[in-house]
Amino acid sequence: MRTDPLAYLGQELDSLREQKLYRHLRILDDEQKAHTTVDHRSVVNLSSNNYLGLTTHPKLRQAALKAIEQYGVGTGSVRTIAGTMDIHMELERRLAEFKKVEKVVVFQSGFTANAGTVSAILSKEDVVISDELNHASIIDGCRLSRATIKVFRHKDVDAARRIITGLPASQRKLLITDGVFSMDGDLGPLPALCALAEETGCIMMVDDAHASGVFGRNGRGTVDHFDMHGRVDIQVGTLSKAIGALGGYVAGNTNLIEFLYHRARPFLFSTSHPPSVVLTCIAAIDVLMDEPDIIERLWENTRFFKEGLRRLGFDTGLSESPITPVIAGEGAKAMMLSDKLFERGVFAQGIAYPTVAKDRARVRTIVTATHTREDLQYALDQFAAVGRELGLI
Ligand SMILES: Cc1ncc(COP(=O)(O)O)c(C=O)c1O
Repeated sequence: MRTDPLAYLGQELDSLREQKLYRHLRILDDEQKAHTTVDHRSVVNLSSNNYLGLTTHPKLRQAALKAIEQYGVGTGSVRTIAGTMDIHMELERRLAEFKKVEKVVVFQSGFTANAGTVSAILSKEDVVISDELNHASIIDGCRLSRATIKVFRHKDVDAARRIITGLPASQRKLLITDGVFSMDGDLGPLPALCALAEETGCIMMVDDAHASGVFGRNGRGTVDHFDMHGRVDIQVGTLSKAIGALGGYVAGNTNLIEFLYHRARPFLFSTSHPPSVVLTCIAAIDVLMDEPDIIERLWENTRFFKEGLRRLGFDTGLSESPITPVIAGEGAKAMMLSDKLFERGVFAQGIAYPTVAKDRARVRTIVTATHTREDLQYALDQFAAVGRELGLI
């Protein structure tokens, strides 16, 4: 009989079980909403990236239905062969106008936008200077490019400068940061990094996945928030989080975007968005422009919830965004905090190593514009009870 060549994977899983880090997928029995049903339990949902509640917005729902009626359910091709409909071009035009750039290209996800862009624009003679907490999609893009990867301490602009000044002036360099860091909710130091990039001739790139729809006027992102228009060469945004649907995009000048049309591998080798996603995203831009008060509600809820956690005495790190980590320490403790909250009707996922440092495991919370004050107060009360039980406060 043939022995299973994948048996080692079972051993890895056993090791996760021993460390109490094995996770079952939680199953949503309802829509992605602020208050929903997960694994048959009614919960306040603090785990989604649905910052503005757009996953269920009536205008987006209508747009998706209309798209299916008018264009069918799929495109049947990659963008560069037969999968570019007029609505794909319209979405890119609308995003370029929204982001105040020359041009935008839409990818299948934020992940492929980052990985596809970094790997396309760099080669093995080049260098990437990257924040240590940048997203996995940036790291994968760097690896695929075969460029040398130099990592600087989180948000440490002087450390980035030391790396850059130690490199030959003629070498091509990409300086890259997340706009909002996804596990800590803090902001990349964009003004200082832009100044450094200008001084040293680096290409400046920001991944604004968690800032899209959240920071800046009408949710234009951190470049708008810090008033850095024209100073960031490559902006990545996502359509999968606050925008409520799916996709990613790269915003920049015409040369960049046309080059990506020719060389970005996910764009060239993976089928384009179905029409329903495309028209949903266009409807979402309309909502950002016409109903900016939802973004204000997101921030009011963020302030209320963050303040509540801090008042209770939790370590919430240095978050400046609606992502608020509740630090538990060891991985097993974070998972216990998450599980006990869930039993009490609060869904907040535990995050452990290797996603975050071994001693900084946490429960990550994200409030949305559509949580009610009652939802958030209920969640705070449960955090207080479980936090005391586990000795975290
Ligand atoms: C910082 C960051 N960049 C990129 C992505 C990828 O975005 P998407 O979910 O659209 O693939 C994520 C999502 O997890 C993220 O947190």
